[in-house]
Amino acid sequence: MTLNANVATALNNQINAELNASYIYLSMAAWFDNNGLPGFAQWFRGHSTEETEHGMRIYDFLVRRDAPVELQGIAAPQADYSSAKEVLEAALAHERSVTAQINALFELAQSEREFSTQNMLQWFIEEQTEEEDLFRTVLDQVDAAGDNRWNLLLLDKEMANGLGRDAGSDAEA
Ligand code: FEO
Repeated sequence: MTLNANVATALNNQINAELNASYIYLSMAAWFDNNGLPGFAQWFRGHSTEETEHGMRIYDFLVRRDAPVELQGIAAPQADYSSAKEVLEAALAHERSVTAQINALFELAQSEREFSTQNMLQWFIEEQTEEEDLFRTVLDQVDAAGDNRWNLLLLDKEMANGLGRDAGSDAEA
């Protein structure tokens, strides 16, 4: 059955949103690399890769549904932040906005009676719950470290070891 045109457009927009998130997290990784926190940088690099994989899930779905993949431009991400806490706050806010986008997409798939799209999006709905939880956990830890550089360096080692990785891992994907 041909994929509903409105849903196809929205799915292409979501590919762009996921790749945009990938670029934002890569920019955040660069900020941590530039500020002597390689563990956080590694964590954000990994998350950037996950977002590309999210985009590719939708890409593959469009291919399987014989609908055109239409890639769009990606804006330059913010490069400067005042602190690790500001980065994590921005990352959590971004995840929340992605959750809203996924929910709107699911609503559209429902109203257009696009059942296989709803099925595909179930994975994303669960993933967003995990990701918001994961980013909130990291933000809480950064908040607890406060302005103390030594605390932040200790936390950086934890991040290199994969803090919160289980909750947000795509290993089951
Ligand atoms: Fe693909 Fe982190 O949302």
